[in-house]
Order: sequence, then C-alpha cells, then structure tokens
Amino acid sequence: MGSIFHIRLTRLAARVLLLLVVLFAVALLLAASCASSQPATQVAVGRDIAIARCSSCHAIDAEVSGPNPEAPPLKTVLWRYNEERLADDFIEAVRVGHGDMPVFDFNPAGTDALIAYLKSIKSARDPEAE
Ligand code: HEC
Repeated sequence: MGSIFHIRLTRLAARVLLLLVVLFAVALLLAASCASSQPATQVAVGRDIAIARCSSCHAIDAEVSGPNPEAPPLKTVLWRYNEERLADDFIEAVRVGHGDMPVFDFNPAGTDALIAYLKSIKSARDPEAE
C-alpha cells in the first residue's frame, strides 16, 4: 500500500515538474520575442519624432541634404555628438549647440527612441573624415 502511494506521489511530482519546465520555457520564449521586437518599435517611434521635430531642417534616414543646408544630415550627427551627451541634452532641454534649432523637451522615453533611431541610421563612415 505504502509503495503504491509513493509511486503515485512520484508521478504527480514528475508531472508538476514537467509542467513547471514547460511554463518556464514558454516564459523564456515570450521574454525573448519581446526583447527582440522592442528595439524595432523604439526605432519607429524615434523616426516619427525625427520626422515631426527634426525634418523641417535636417535630412533624415539615408538622405544627405535636408531643407536647411546649415543642418547636417541626421545620419552623421552621432559622429560628432556622443549619444549619451545628446540624450542628456535633449532630456535637460539644453540647446544642442546650434543656431535657430529649437530647444526640445523630450521625456526620457522619447529621447531613447530618438537616439535609437539616430543609431539605426548612423552612416557607416564619418563623412567629414573622407
Ligand atoms: C529649425 C531648424 C532645426 C530643427 C527643427 C532641428 N535642427 Fe538640429 N540643427 C540645425 C542646424 C542649423 C544645425 C547646425 C548648426 C550648428 O552647427 O551650429 C543643427 C545641428 C544639430 C546637431 C549637431 C550636429 C553636429 O554635428 O554638431 C544635432 C545633434 C542636431 N542638430 C540634432 C537635431 C535633432 C535630433 C532634431 C530633432 C529633434 C533637430 N536637430 C531639429 C537646425 C535644426
């Protein structure tokens, strides 16, 4: 009697363990898929911000010339501007070192998105170094 009870208990434990393993695997898969899709979303949000707030002067995406010839194409700005400093400057609404460019007051999420977008379009080489 005692040993049958023991086997049942062991089987139950094995099932519970299997269930836990499956749940854990599913959780891992979900976490992995969220992590990989997030940057793409962030870049898209950043691009929307750039279109709305930067493209009236700067060239965006792979473009080389924008409406304002004084404004460098955005794909080149990370060559001269450290990305963390740029993020800080945007968050603190500091003037990002230039003439008639407005002061921005992005929230940290908006700034992260914008920087993610700038990184995604960053030119392979510094155009001024050529
Ligand atoms: C009203 C026009 C205007 C808008 C809008 C504008 N900029 Fe600018 N930006 C400029 C001009 C002009 C310069 C270059 C002036 C200078 O170097 O003194 C510049 C320079 C920069 C620089 C420094 C580039 C370097 O290589 O030193 C960065 C970074 C930058 N802009 C980012 C942005 C971002 C990001 C946005 C949108 C959130 C934006 N700008 C919106 C006009 C603008």
